[in-house]
Amino acid sequence: MFTTRFGSLNPAGGHHTLTDLHDPPPNRGALGTGAAVTHIEQQTRSAWETYGQHHVKRGTPLPDLDRITWGPGLDGPGDEVLGDLEGLRVLDLGCGTGRHAAHLARANGARVDGVDASHSQIERARVHHPDVPGLRLFHADAVDHLGQAEPYDVIYSVSAVHFFDPHRLFSALAGSLTPGGRLYFTVLHTNSDGHGPSSTLSPRPELLHLAGGGTLTMHMWVLAPDLWESLLTRHGLEVRGVTALDAPDDSNRASYRLFEARRPDD
Ligand SMILES: C[S@@+](CC[C@H](N)C(=O)[O-])C[C@H]1O[C@@H](n2cnc3c(N)ncnc32)[C@H](O)[C@@H]1O
Repeated sequence: MFTTRFGSLNPAGGHHTLTDLHDPPPNRGALGTGAAVTHIEQQTRSAWETYGQHHVKRGTPLPDLDRITWGPGLDGPGDEVLGDLEGLRVLDLGCGTGRHAAHLARANGARVDGVDASHSQIERARVHHPDVPGLRLFHADAVDHLGQAEPYDVIYSVSAVHFFDPHRLFSALAGSLTPGGRLYFTVLHTNSDGHGPSSTLSPRPELLHLAGGGTLTMHMWVLAPDLWESLLTRHGLEVRGVTALDAPDDSNRASYRLFEARRPDD
């Protein structure tokens, strides 16, 4: 269960230097086996490791979902966004505890793979969903996974795409979809303090408040919609729609964007 909320911009204004990814970053590491993972992504990966361990220690329950929740409100769009999944090969990119993937495999007869780079999160997923027909869970960097897996008919991602260096992820996406294959993802647009998206392709620090106390700083690419759209089109995908998903509660200014795109038919 994702009980924390993305929220406050780090008031220190960032104890990490923001990197302009129009220039090649100087500090690319080699966590993955495919395209090199940026230092910032490695920090994110270890923050998600800590996040999962925190919830294992706390014994946070993981209730099963009966619909997909794409954004901060429970009454927003749900499974219907994805259309008919019967018999299709589907990937949940950054699946976390596998709550959406397990629900789709159970309810839609889809063959759903979930991939997540956090060992603690994927272990929580495996323990909670040991035997769901059609569900497979992979512990891997998602870009590495895309490079190795057969192409998918549908790739979706709830609140994970903003943690990837967009050049690294988007270069891999179109080739990992079948011709005509569909892509759906949600990304943070405005944090709960009202700090809106950036018009440059740079990550920024955001605080994640842990249930039970404590915070984790995670770097996220919180980008204006036209930047996401140009990333999609530059990497061979057609944009089909962008939907605003706002928090239902007036005191929380968080807003997400749901992008729908497809790989053109050959
Ligand atoms: C906000 S959580 C969302 C989890 C899940 N989609 C959900 O809605 O419950 C973001 C997830 O992205 C995963 N993630 C971040 N970077 C990743 C990467 N490079 N490869 C695979 N997963 C990654 C994190 O480990 C984390 O579980």
